[in-house]
This record gives sequence, structure tokens and C-alpha cells, in this order.
Amino acid sequence: MQKGNIFEHVLDQVNLVDLISGYIPVERAGRNYKALCPFHSEKTASFIISEEKQLYHCFGCGAAGNAINFVMQYENLDYLDAVELIADRYNIDISEFSSSNSQKKTVDYKLFYAVLRDAANYYYKNLRTAPQAMAYLEKRGLNYDIIRTFGIGFSNDKWTDLINRLGKKYSVATLEQVGLAIENKEKNSHYDRFRNRIMFPIVNPRGKVIGFGGRVMDDSLPKYLNSPETDVFNKSQTLYGLHLAKDHLHEKKQLIICEGYMDVIALHAAGFQNAVATLGTAMTVEHARLMKRYSEEIVVCYDSDLAGQKAALKSIDVLEGVVEKVRVVVLGEGLDPDEYIKKYGPEAFKEKVDDAVTGTAFKIRHLRQGFNLNSEQEKVTFLSKASEIISQVKNGFEKNLYIDELSESLGVNRGLIANEVYKGSKGNHLSFHSQKKSRNIPIVENDRRALLEEQLIVYLTHAYSKLTDMQKTVIGAFEFSESRQDIFSYLMTYFEGNDRFSMQHVIEEADLDVSSALEQILEKHTDEESDIDVDLVLNNILLMKLDDALDALRKELKTTDDVPKIEREIQHKLLLKKELTLKMRHGK
Ligand code: UTP
Ligand code: MN
Repeated sequence: MQKGNIFEHVLDQVNLVDLISGYIPVERAGRNYKALCPFHSEKTASFIISEEKQLYHCFGCGAAGNAINFVMQYENLDYLDAVELIADRYNIDISEFSSSNSQKKTVDYKLFYAVLRDAANYYYKNLRTAPQAMAYLEKRGLNYDIIRTFGIGFSNDKWTDLINRLGKKYSVATLEQVGLAIENKEKNSHYDRFRNRIMFPIVNPRGKVIGFGGRVMDDSLPKYLNSPETDVFNKSQTLYGLHLAKDHLHEKKQLIICEGYMDVIALHAAGFQNAVATLGTAMTVEHARLMKRYSEEIVVCYDSDLAGQKAALKSIDVLEGVVEKVRVVVLGEGLDPDEYIKKYGPEAFKEKVDDAVTGTAFKIRHLRQGFNLNSEQEKVTFLSKASEIISQVKNGFEKNLYIDELSESLGVNRGLIANEVYKGSKGNHLSFHSQKKSRNIPIVENDRRALLEEQLIVYLTHAYSKLTDMQKTVIGAFEFSESRQDIFSYLMTYFEGNDRFSMQHVIEEADLDVSSALEQILEKHTDEESDIDVDLVLNNILLMKLDDALDALRKELKTTDDVPKIEREIQHKLLLKKELTLKMRHGK
């Protein structure tokens, strides 16, 4: 007997508060629970969990959903994997669904992991029989310890060596599915993907081999060949070396992110076992989240050539959206971390890491390279671009530090730079704002109603205490549309007990539907609050109400037995409408 679907079945049996508490510290906050959001960095908890509704919502970054969504986002899993993980953890029996579950293609993970592990073992053992490969690694400064730690191996220079080795145990189709064999359609045969290469197994944090990188030993191309994306290997979610680095973060929760396999290996060998690398792809938000799960600070250490520095700029933007502490190392001379350590040694590298600069400082530094600051004109352009970068810094104290630094290093008056920085953030807004306001597009009725009601809500949140009793009575008598009625009711009660509005307070106390709708409205109308003329808004709402009433009465006129009575009422409403319009025209 199958009841409902697998998702409902699983969701019914977990408590979201328990589930999230298993990942991050959660505390009670009024009728809800709150936590520091695991999906963006913040200092005040705006991640709210509603136990009643079994939903979470982050008021900072907008992340929201149920238990399955949480696990998907937190563990980087797809929907069905998340369901399975929850079922597994809470001992929920989902066997009754598995046969009828046609949405999921059956992936035999156990088999895939086993093939890949056997392949890694083979390559590793095979290295000992390949003196030219050993010689290459020795030339690159790798000793036996580090070869073992990373499980480095070698693939022979033959077309079907691995296929022959593993073919007795696994089908060639399986080898193809994990990216180790390639089909030759013409000849209807298969051959090894990796041939005559130094093999670097890629291992996930759970210790499973999921793919390989293979390097040539000379200058031929491509320098590295990587496993293709498979059911168990996703480059945008994988970091080379993380399975080792994660066990070395006890003293200091810091990861060093670099670009290459060899960088990670050289850094580990030199005692920096917190180094990881992307796999020749650009940094993704998933990479950033993955790192955030293990560390508090991320130090970007890319090649110091132009390409590396450009990539660093991009990575900083991705990282800063996810992690709070991001710093950047600049090695210089076009060196990569591996080359730097070989040339200057681990001590010097450590100093470089200690001296790493913030993302903003790095951006300014990079910008500066493109200008000749002896030319007054270029200096001005540089200053205005640098100010733009600084204006994006959220923390005011930090902002001022950059202004100081710039002022000192360029010998430019501090006030001038500060002006430019603050103009950057405010000025844009104002011009955008006035542009938005001056456009005179006729607003359709429903939008108009929504806009007025939203403006009233915004006004209430910041100026409730300025309302006259008369205005309060008017508002109290209104009937609002849709979800806004709940917001009004909530706000009216809220201000009975509180003098000042606090969104934090609301998200802790209010029903999740109310708080998220309110938050959306406030977001939409940021910066408008001081422009709202509450009398105008109220009168416009009244006017609309009168029109509604008139419409209704005119309809009634067609069916009523007492025509004179309805006509009197219509006359009365029309009079009210006239008075109101006159009053509005005279600005009162
Ligand atoms: P690098 O060329 O900087 O490699 O590419 P590296 O790690 O410093 O290697 P060595 O020192 O020359 O041996 C950085 C990363 O980009 C990816 C690899 O992940 C590499 O580690 N890459 C590079 C490829 O995937 N394919 C390539 O052909 C080149
Ligand atoms: Mn290198």
C-alpha cells in the first residue's frame, strides 16, 4: 500500500528544527527558531525556522524551503539524493517507493566507487614499474611520502592496459561510465582514456576516488587530462586535496585555495596541509560553500601571472558572496605556489600568507597597475574607480581604512576621497530613484491598490508613532487585499506592545508567511519611506474604496426592490467622493 509520494512520506517523519540543529546551532526565538544562516555570512541571525510550518526562510539571502531543500542546499545534493540521505539518517523506510520510483535512474554508486578505487590502486602500484615516471616525480621534488599521501600513480603507454587489467572484474561499459574507457564507435571497441600520464586520483571528502587528473611528462598537450563529469564526479563541486586538508584544520580554520594539482601537492609537502585547488575550472558558488563548511577563512593563492590574477579577481567576487573572511596572496614574478616554495622556501611562503590582503585591497592594487599615477588625469580616473570599489564595502569602519590608505599613498586629501566614495553609493541610488518616480505610466487598478497598501505598510513600520488617532481609526477600518491584511493586523497588534519597529523582532515573532511577505515589501520600497505622504495614500485608498462601493451599489440597482434607497446611497457616496477629491486637490 503506497500512500502519497516519497517526498511527503519523508517530510512527514522529520522535524525540520531537529534536522537543522544537526548541522548548525539553533536557538528558540519566540514562536520560531533562529540561527546564523549557513548559506551566507552574517553576524545577526536572520535564518528563521518555523516548526509549525516545517519551513525555513533566511531574511538575509532569501534561502527558503523545507527539510529536503535544506539538505540539498547544505550537502550539495540533488533532490532524490537529499531524500535518501534524510531517510537514511532518520531510519525512514522508503523501500516501498524504490521500485516504482522511475524518476531516478539507477546509479550503482558502490560499483562506481569500487572501479575507481581499483583503478587508482593499479596506477599507484604501476608507478613502481615505471622508472621514467619516478624520475619525473623526483625531478619535480616529490618524495615517496607525498606520493603515497596523494596516491599518485602512472598509466602505461598502451591503448587498453587498464581495460585489460580491470576487464575481468568489471564490464567495459562500467569503465566507460566512470570515465576510464572511451568508445571507438567505428571500430566498435574501447580504449583507455589515460595513457602515458602521471595519475592524480581525485578523492571526495568521504574518501572515495571519484576521478583522475593525468599529466604528461613532457611538453605535449594537453598538459592535464581530466576525468569527464560522471555520476560521481562533478568538477564544480569538487576540490582537489580537500579530503586531506579537512583533517588539518583543527588549530586554524583556514583553507588556501590555489589553481593546480601540483600547487596543492607542493604546499602539503611544505607543511601547508590546508591547501586545496579547483580542477582547472572557474570557482563556483558550490566550491565556496564547500570550503565554508570546513573553514572560516579562505586565502586565495593563484598563479601570479596575469591570467592567475584575473582568475583571482573573479574568485574573490564568488567567495565574498559566501564567506566572510577572504584574503589574497600575491606571490609576484609570475610564480605559482609550487614554484614560489621551490625558489624561496616554506618560511617565505608563510610570510606571504600572513601578509595576504583583503579582497578589496587586492582589487585596488590590481586596478592601480593599469594607471600611470604620475599623470594627474590618470590619477583622477584611478581615484574615481578605486572609490567605486571602496563604496561597495559594507562595513563603514573598513571603508574608512581604505580611504585612509588611498589618501596616504597618493597624497590626496582624505575628505575628497571620502566624498567620492560616499557619493558613489548614495548618488546612484538617488538618480535611479528619481528616474523611477518621474516616469508617468498609468497604473492598472490592482497594481495601484497593491502599491498604495504597500506604501501604507512601509509608512507604518517606520512612522507609526506619527499617526494621529483619526488616521489610526481610518486604517483600522480598512479591509486590505490578500496577504496584506495579515500584515496589517500583525502590525497593528505589534505596535500595541512596541514603540519601535524591528524587523529582527518581527521575524522572530511573526508567522513566517507574514514576516516574509513583509520583508519583501520593505525590500521593494527601500529608500522610499521618507517620501511617503501618508495622507495622500490614505485618501487614495479611501477613494478606491468609494469606487468599489459605488460599483457594488450600481450592480445592486439592477436587482433591488427598493430603488430609491439605493439611489440615495449612491448620491451619498458620490458626495463623499466629491468632498474627498476637493480636499485632496487643495492639499489637505
Ligand atoms: P597549471 O598549468 O598552472 O598546472 O594549471 P600546475 O598544477 O601548475 O602544473 P605544473 O606545475 O605545470 O605541472 C592549473 C590547473 O589547471 C588544470 C589542472 O587542474 C591544473 O592543475 N589544467 C591545466 C587542465 O585541466 N588541463 C590543462 O591542460 C592544463
Ligand atoms: Mn605549476
